[in-house]
Amino acid sequence: MHVEAALAPPAPEPPQDSDAALARLLNEGIVWGDAAYWLKRLPTGSVDLFFTSPPYADARAYSRISPDQYVAWFKPFALSMLGATSETGSLVINIKNRVAKSGPFRGQRHPYVYELVLSLQRMGWRWIETYIWSKPNAIPGRFGPRTKDSFEYLYHFSKGPKPYFEINAVRIPYKADQAEIARRLKDTNGRRNTDAGFGRDRTKTYEHGGADPGNVVSVSQTYNQHKGPAGQHTAVMPEGLAEFFVKALCPVNGIVVDPFAGSGTTVVLARRHGRRSGGIDIHEEYVEIARQRLVDDHIEQSAGQLSIPF
Ligand SMILES: C[S@@+](CC[C@H](N)C(=O)[O-])C[C@H]1O[C@@H](n2cnc3c(N)ncnc32)[C@H](O)[C@@H]1O
Repeated sequence: MHVEAALAPPAPEPPQDSDAALARLLNEGIVWGDAAYWLKRLPTGSVDLFFTSPPYADARAYSRISPDQYVAWFKPFALSMLGATSETGSLVINIKNRVAKSGPFRGQRHPYVYELVLSLQRMGWRWIETYIWSKPNAIPGRFGPRTKDSFEYLYHFSKGPKPYFEINAVRIPYKADQAEIARRLKDTNGRRNTDAGFGRDRTKTYEHGGADPGNVVSVSQTYNQHKGPAGQHTAVMPEGLAEFFVKALCPVNGIVVDPFAGSGTTVVLARRHGRRSGGIDIHEEYVEIARQRLVDDHIEQSAGQLSIPF
């Protein structure tokens, strides 16, 4: 039996027909269901981006998955997502390390994250990049012989060799002031090499409307327990994190699916930015929270009007 299924009351099955399953997911926004069944039902090559934060090993009340079993637990989901992803599509998994509580690694960092990445690569997912989500406001505390956890990983995999990637959608504001930018735009001196032989054409520095983002994405964690329905979920992702990956990895009007939707952050952000989106969660109470978020964001109507080309 599925680990999560053992903890939650049985969720309804998806429609038999795969086009109908996708249509329902996108129209409802958030469905109550087990991703193990829903992902298998999605049409081949239909999804542009799977963006998700699955339950971490051993982490929360809703996740009793031991790090030792994590890869075996996740692989069937990854295989179904591979089939449902388009040739230019991607999968992004947000995950973090754990300290092993038992076994040969007790007291050490457990290697399950790295084992997962290698196993997905062997499955056929192309490992494109590792991003670090840096949390400037990570929770203080005592963590034994280590500092507090102030980052998590986001692993970007693609289905094919040329995934959609729009860096211009996620450029960051230049640090230089306006006068310096204006001066550089007039600079005709071109490439200047350093003694080490490196050089770049400085005349082009400010032509892109923003600086190149790096693979360390700094977003403050949001603890909005007292601010609304999303606060009742224990692992709400900050909106800025979902926004960065949705904008960079899925074209406008493309399809974004979050199989472990929780309070619905991915779907809210994807719809807000003009992508079609749906999420799945196995806990009915989280589904209600997520649906309320969609309503509060005033995006339920426009999402309902989107036409689905299947
Ligand atoms: C880390 S939380 C996701 C949080 C989400 N990113 C947000 O911002 O609220 C993981 C979610 O996966 C759900 N989940 C666990 N197993 C599942 C399954 N088999 N199918 C669907 N959802 C599942 C849990 O109920 C939980 O809400």
